[in-house]
Amino acid sequence: MSTPLNVGMIGYGFMGRAHSNAYRQVSQFFQRKYRPVLKACCGRNEAKIKAFAENWGYESYETDWRRLVERKDIDLIDIGSPNNTHREIALAAAAAGKMVLCEKPLAMNTAEAEEMTAAVERAGVPNMVWFNYRRVPAIALARQIIDEGRIGRPFHYRATYLQDWTIAEDVPQGGPALWRLDVDVAGSGVTGDLLAHSIDTAMWLNGPIVRVVAATETFVKERLHQVTGKVQPVGIDDACMFLAIFQNGSMGTFESTRYARGRKNFNTFELNGAAGSVYFDLEEPQILQYFKYADPKTGAKIESHLTGWQKIHVTNFEHPYMNKWWVPGCTIGYEHTFINALADFLEGLETGSPAQPDFRCALQTQKVCDAVLASAKTGQWQQIA
Ligand SMILES: NC(=O)c1ccc[n+]([C@@H]2O[C@H](COP(=O)([O-])OP(=O)(O)OC[C@H]3O[C@@H](n4cnc5c(N)ncnc54)[C@H](O)[C@@H]3O)[C@@H](O)[C@H]2O)c1
Repeated sequence: MSTPLNVGMIGYGFMGRAHSNAYRQVSQFFQRKYRPVLKACCGRNEAKIKAFAENWGYESYETDWRRLVERKDIDLIDIGSPNNTHREIALAAAAAGKMVLCEKPLAMNTAEAEEMTAAVERAGVPNMVWFNYRRVPAIALARQIIDEGRIGRPFHYRATYLQDWTIAEDVPQGGPALWRLDVDVAGSGVTGDLLAHSIDTAMWLNGPIVRVVAATETFVKERLHQVTGKVQPVGIDDACMFLAIFQNGSMGTFESTRYARGRKNFNTFELNGAAGSVYFDLEEPQILQYFKYADPKTGAKIESHLTGWQKIHVTNFEHPYMNKWWVPGCTIGYEHTFINALADFLEGLETGSPAQPDFRCALQTQKVCDAVLASAKTGQWQQIA
């Protein structure tokens, strides 16, 4: 017999849809003790949240998140609203004893993230941040290959996260859909929005980042603000590049922009080690590229005429998550990363071994983001505690 887990979903936009889909599907594909129930969703516009509730099958809706948090019939609060709302909702949800799932970036800055982490830990409530790319099977396979010692001593980590949707100068800032361009709502630009993903993945695969030096640019300095109706300075970073030193001594380069013409959601990484390399590109999400130089057990080198990059089609039952989906050769997509993440969270509830990244883990990513932004101001290397 499964135990119902009553979900209160805040936000009905991109992530509201991605998460609702995960709640609806997870129990069909993953056998877990806890079974999410779409109890209530929340948005400020009544007509829109009512339509959303009907479309996704929520039993009820609220137009104020405070009402949702207060409800006795809600076990879990899921924060899928813009970044400047995360702190207040998470603090209230933890105080009310609810489990808290929060979208990335965890907060507007490290100070907020620390407060939120302390709040969930004090309350003792299960928590997780939706860094969903960890749940792309090919990325999880990269982690497995690294853990198996197949990369050997790591030397270089290289990440890019490129988009092109803000190049036009007449794209406004602020308000629905464009809150990412308003620094008071987003906290930062590509650093918190895109590089937070790259940093989370990098630290998951290659360990902590201990220092960074960065440069950022805001190419369009002023934009019409949709809420105030005035042309206002743009406070976010449109582009960011930084160098990183990992605790294991390897070197990292990270690049992100919303001005890479032709790139829509171009998210890649490569790790080069003494014994091998891995490369991933989200435009081919089912593929992990692996270069094997030496056998991890014997140390024997691959015969030179047989070396080359392998394109591993990550759809076998032996690959991470794939025994829960279709038959080998059949791919899964973007939405499945959220389902896989939720399945891990539910497993953590069952086993008592919390799914990662929890708030404390995401706090570390927030610290790296803050160090990157601080370095971009001073031009100096920044240490990360
Ligand atoms: N994990 C990922 O890959 C990923 C992808 C996109 C966005 N995100 C994150 O998810 C969050 C939401 O982003 P999005 O793209 O879904 O945004 P969105 O603009 O599509 O949706 C935001 C939703 O929040 C609602 N909202 C805003 N203020 C609110 C309030 N005070 N109370 C209740 N609802 C409120 C809006 O009405 C809207 O429904 C952000 O933190 C973002 O960084 C994560």
